Amino acid sequence: MTRLSDHDLTEREYRTTDRLSQRRLDRTGWLRGKDERLLALQALAAIGPSRVLDAGCGTGDFAALIAAPEVLCVDSSEAAVKATEAKGLTARVADVQDLPYPDGYFDAVACNWVLHHVPDRRKAIAEFARVLTPSGRFVGCYNAPDHLGALWSALALGDDADDFNSANGPGELAESFATVEVREVWGQVLWEERDALQTYLDAYSELYGPLSAPDVSYPFRAARHNVVFVADRPRTQGARP
Ligand SMILES: C[S@@+](CC[C@H](N)C(=O)[O-])C[C@H]1O[C@@H](n2cnc3c(N)ncnc32)[C@H](O)[C@@H]1O
Repeated sequence: MTRLSDHDLTEREYRTTDRLSQRRLDRTGWLRGKDERLLALQALAAIGPSRVLDAGCGTGDFAALIAAPEVLCVDSSEAAVKATEAKGLTARVADVQDLPYPDGYFDAVACNWVLHHVPDRRKAIAEFARVLTPSGRFVGCYNAPDHLGALWSALALGDDADDFNSANGPGELAESFATVEVREVWGQVLWEERDALQTYLDAYSELYGPLSAPDVSYPFRAARHNVVFVADRPRTQGARP
């Protein structure tokens, strides 16, 4: 199995945004339950931020919904930056391990489904803390290890949880933030036909190689299990937890 934090793999995967867009569950399946991105947007809106960073913005879909006067975006992929700019947002190429902003520049940082791709997560999380004001907030949507478990088990990929997930995320964030809250989100996805599930799985071709939709009776259902991390009050660099 591939390591999702491998730099070359990440670079190849996001050279275009086609597969990223295709992996959105609502493009191929029917969703039930809460949407973690809405909870993340609420967690941002709750502090009334003036300036927000979306770190690893992908196609900019999330950033476009953030309620703040100024929203800046970064991504290591040029294709992602172009897709985000095409939505009228301000975006630039940058690595979350070395953010091109001064200390205390943002009221909030969002970083959804990025940290499992980052070789030095501790550095990236410390960067988020550094660029936040002392009362700043970090918000991030990530997966629980059992997210879509029925699907990955059917494909014999059941043990391959993301490197950064609901189990290890709180501890890693707590190294740079005073408080870390985990907001759990459950739901379901239903693929009506095998072709729809195959289209979803094809979006993983670069990350995992070819995957074949299970030959079972359809619709195929899998439980979604996501978390929204809400981390407040960055610790100053060098301070002990
Ligand atoms: C799974 S996508 C998530 C995109 C977006 N946050 C979303 O929720 O749709 C991961 C994104 O992180 C970006 N990325 C990966 N490693 C990065 C790094 N070290 N610095 C900045 N962006 C990175 C990728 O280019 C890609 O756009």
